[in-house]
Amino acid sequence: MKIMVINGPNLNMLGIREPTHYGKETYADLLKKIEKHAEEKGISIEFRQSNHEGDLVDYIQSTYQNFDGIVINPGAYTHTSIAILDAVKAVGVPTCEVHISDVNAREDFRKISYIRAACVLTVSGHGTDGYLEAIDYLIELKGK
Ligand code: DQA
Repeated sequence: MKIMVINGPNLNMLGIREPTHYGKETYADLLKKIEKHAEEKGISIEFRQSNHEGDLVDYIQSTYQNFDGIVINPGAYTHTSIAILDAVKAVGVPTCEVHISDVNAREDFRKISYIRAACVLTVSGHGTDGYLEAIDYLIELKGK
């Protein structure tokens, strides 16, 4: 099984940016944690990160017929991007939306998620463990 883990804008700044919302783990720590989990589960993971909306669309498109699932934290594009929603709908690859912080407990604009309509799961507010939960969900889904 092969999953693409995509992180959007400013997630490369983890550990530096607003630690009260996003914690002290760095982006490199996050990748290590996911890699270890994937090894334990015997699955393969590829990582992508970009601060640019079009790159995220390209990454999603590249999963078509190549990946069994997507775990994506679209960052602020969650709340604005119809292009990212459309890309997920286009490829039809099971996709989980992850947010490190609890987006429903923050500003009203963070309660809107365009991508959610195309996702099989949303995990929000579970810190970086949310990525692992999303991976486990996709593994279970694939087994069904
Ligand atoms: C985020 C929440 C978004 O509202 C924010 O713009 C981010 C990160 C999260 O992981 O909690 O960049 O997706």
